[in-house]
Amino acid sequence: PQQDRPGDPKQRQREAYRAPDPAGGPLTTDQGVVVDHTDDALAAGERGPTLLEDFHFREKITRFDHERIPERVVHARGAGAYGWFEPYHSCAEFTKAAFLQDPSVRTPVFVRFSTVQGPRGSADTVRDVRGFATKFYTSEGNYDLVGNNFPVFFIQDGIKFPDFVHAVKPEPHNDIPTGASAHDTFWDFVSLQPETLHAVFWLMSDRAIPRSYRMMQGFGVHTFRFVDARGRGTFVKFHWKPKLGVHSLVWDEAQEIQGRDPDYNRRDLWDMIEAGHHPEWELGVQLVPEEDEHAFDFDLLDATKIIPEELVPVRPIGRMVLDRNPDNFFAETEQIAFHTANVVPGIDFTNDPLLQARNFSYLDTQLIRLGGPNFAQIPVNQPVVPVRNHQRDGYHQGRLHTGANYGKNSLGGGCPGIADATDPRAYSHLQERVDGRKIRKRSLSFEDFYSQPALFWHSMADWEKRHMVEAFRFELGKVNSVRVRGRTVDQLALVDHELAAAVAEGIGVPLPEQPEGTPGPVPSPALSIESLKGPGT
Ligand code: HEM
Repeated sequence: PQQDRPGDPKQRQREAYRAPDPAGGPLTTDQGVVVDHTDDALAAGERGPTLLEDFHFREKITRFDHERIPERVVHARGAGAYGWFEPYHSCAEFTKAAFLQDPSVRTPVFVRFSTVQGPRGSADTVRDVRGFATKFYTSEGNYDLVGNNFPVFFIQDGIKFPDFVHAVKPEPHNDIPTGASAHDTFWDFVSLQPETLHAVFWLMSDRAIPRSYRMMQGFGVHTFRFVDARGRGTFVKFHWKPKLGVHSLVWDEAQEIQGRDPDYNRRDLWDMIEAGHHPEWELGVQLVPEEDEHAFDFDLLDATKIIPEELVPVRPIGRMVLDRNPDNFFAETEQIAFHTANVVPGIDFTNDPLLQARNFSYLDTQLIRLGGPNFAQIPVNQPVVPVRNHQRDGYHQGRLHTGANYGKNSLGGGCPGIADATDPRAYSHLQERVDGRKIRKRSLSFEDFYSQPALFWHSMADWEKRHMVEAFRFELGKVNSVRVRGRTVDQLALVDHELAAAVAEGIGVPLPEQPEGTPGPVPSPALSIESLKGPGT
């Protein structure tokens, strides 16, 4: 109820939309006509046919027939909650974003966690990436940080996203599988596109089976930009760190839980919030001055790379607490629409080609998923600040616009004032110099696919390495094509020969030859192939 949170503008706004208590009066049709009886349809005689003129019957069935909307094309299954964010201190040195200035101001948020591959009704504890999407309802409009629980992505350019998702989703002829990514199309894609390897290493690690959404890290993945009041940019990577620490399930547990409780992660989030154990995350940033853009041996615009924390430490800047479950799953968790292009003054994009594609894709998909252009009027999507513009009409228009519906009018109404570029409230894009030839070619600076997977592999403890070898064996062991198995193992050998050998042995493909000049650090002598051997497939 509202009185719980008098100061929370999002909560006040939601109250206005709460449906009236149906117990407060008799049942009515959508037109408000009172209905006396809803258990029998109107019929011609006690045992006769149902009559078309029974408007209550027809309305009731029609409304039921239209209850479903398309599920998200990816991240279909999820769970969400409301909460708040507060900065620890002002970040004015780097960004003018209002919600990052004042530690006494709490900004309402909605967070949706999700699996990526499975449909809406699939199980929670599958081996998969998890979405971690946050909508900040700030005093300058909505800011969406649409991240994942891995810091890297599978592809470098969004133009490959349809190919990647087609390969990840169930196979087109039989819609199998719907669980983990154990099938030919996925591994075919991986073996032909080595840029996937770093994310695939995360996918084969224990990070891909989180024990709880409350115990999961989140990452913005891309390099974004902060912009300060003077217009100076700073590259930034975002990190959410869970207060409870990072915890995973082991594979056997995950499989058993899938059978016993497919809602394991969703139920945990809901129950813990209901019980008052409010999950908390710290927001951290890695900051890189504009002049250091080319200081690394990878490209900051490449979403398959991390910035190692040894090079650029993560600075904590604030915390987020989730303390309220939604009132209605469909209205809120299902209808929320996140979009990477929802930014506020002080936060800007980079030319990361994956991010640029996302900035097109989310709004586009939501136009069909949420039935037209007015979905920002759905309560969960509404900003807590006024919306004034000349956008009009369209499916599901809920506002009674009056006055002129075009810019620069002298007749009054519509949207009176237009802020100019000098207005500090107005969003202004960072003035980045751009020039070049139009070419369809990825920069050579995106080309090293093996060093960072090697870094990841060598950062693992022995038992973590063992889990990864078991995961590779289990997943690749399900692949029918011997060529795909072999090609994938060849790719693994370019990351670490010992790993590739352990996997090859478990899935019955020839041991790859040690490639010359294999990149990555030399494996620890304590770790022999013997110690990597798991139970096999
Ligand atoms: C949905 C994250 C790359 C297209 C989502 C969601 C998350 C997410 C968290 C679920 C949002 C929710 O809970 O409603 C990411 C991350 C990416 C990435 C971290 C890489 C860094 C891409 C790319 C594209 C894309 C490259 C397309 C070019 C979509 C679409 C949806 C989606 C179409 C469904 C949105 C909806 O129906 O509302 N993504 N994604 N994503 N993503 Fe991505």
